[in-house]
Amino acid sequence: MNTLRLLPNETCINKAGDLIRRGKLVAFPTETVYGLGADALNEEAVKSVYAAKGRPSDNPMIVHIADRDQLNELVKDGIDGIGQDALKLMDSFWPGPLTMIFHKSSAVPAATTGGLDTVAIRMPSNEIALQLIKAAERPIAAPSANLSGRPSPANAVDVLEDMDGRIDAVIMGDQCEIGIESTVVDMTGDVPTVLRPGKITAEWLSGFLGKEVVNDKSLMTKPEHIADPSEGVSNMSEAPKSPGMKYQHYSPKAKVRLIEASEEGFMAIALELGREAKRIGERAAILNYGTDASKAANKLFTDLRELDRQGYDQIYIRSLEEVGYGFSVMNRMLKSAGYDIVKE
Ligand code: TXA
Ligand code: MG
Repeated sequence: MNTLRLLPNETCINKAGDLIRRGKLVAFPTETVYGLGADALNEEAVKSVYAAKGRPSDNPMIVHIADRDQLNELVKDGIDGIGQDALKLMDSFWPGPLTMIFHKSSAVPAATTGGLDTVAIRMPSNEIALQLIKAAERPIAAPSANLSGRPSPANAVDVLEDMDGRIDAVIMGDQCEIGIESTVVDMTGDVPTVLRPGKITAEWLSGFLGKEVVNDKSLMTKPEHIADPSEGVSNMSEAPKSPGMKYQHYSPKAKVRLIEASEEGFMAIALELGREAKRIGERAAILNYGTDASKAANKLFTDLRELDRQGYDQIYIRSLEEVGYGFSVMNRMLKSAGYDIVKE
């Protein structure tokens, strides 16, 4: 398949909207990472997203909308049924990097939600993404536009690295501002629960709602079994609330290790590990974002991919403090390192 490179102008975005309406796959920028979009209500189109990504079919997708009215066809009792908390969060955080989970309507195919009776919905703030959803005239299901298990792409070149020849088109936008994926919060229970942390933290949501919002307890602990996405649908004794959490994630080809240390301590440990690596003929690189979680979010996935292209065998990343935004970025760092952390 020849993958079209589309410029982010009105003519090309309209063409991309046509492609989505015809059941094709189009990658597009959002403020978080690039998404691989398909018509969320077209079962065949959604199935082809799983195939293009090599993604297990029980890992549900996020449905992207451009207008709140679109909730009516996606959510069980329409917008009136989603509750005051969700409405408040929409007022504060949409459009933006917040995904909310609701009970789904019968219009949403099981393929889109990985067989769950809930649906994840987000209104992105990126203008190209919004224009595309409007041009398509339907909600767009879009997982991150990477091969399953690889770091999410935060620019169009990284999308093409994984998806060239596997999808119909890519809209060639800019580097994503945020760099890690949206916060996913389950709104179906009494206490809103963050299933995937992002720029918008549980503390932040809690402050806005004036009530408790919790991080799902499994977020920072190593899962008992990390399934390789290529194994297909995975079995686990206790199903996680967000099926994506049980699969191997954000893994570059290089072996990643996290180092928890002061600035000087980090350099000392990295040098020592680097010497060991050299002895066995391996090349090592370091990623040190200091204590800046926002910068780390912004660059982590792009840097991991770039170091892979440069052929490094090992990557040492300085860890962040697990508070606020640092907690969210550490969630990605820990996964990319397979939970391997070296302490000073
Ligand atoms: O920032 C983002 O969210 C990006 C951009 C493209 O919008 N999208 C993204 O999608 O990261 P994806 O498919 O890579 O991650 C979606 C996450 C997965 O962990 C999935 O398990 C979870 O959301 N999820 C989706 N629907 C769910 C549901 N109904 N219940 C629980 N978790 C759900
Ligand atoms: Mg993803």
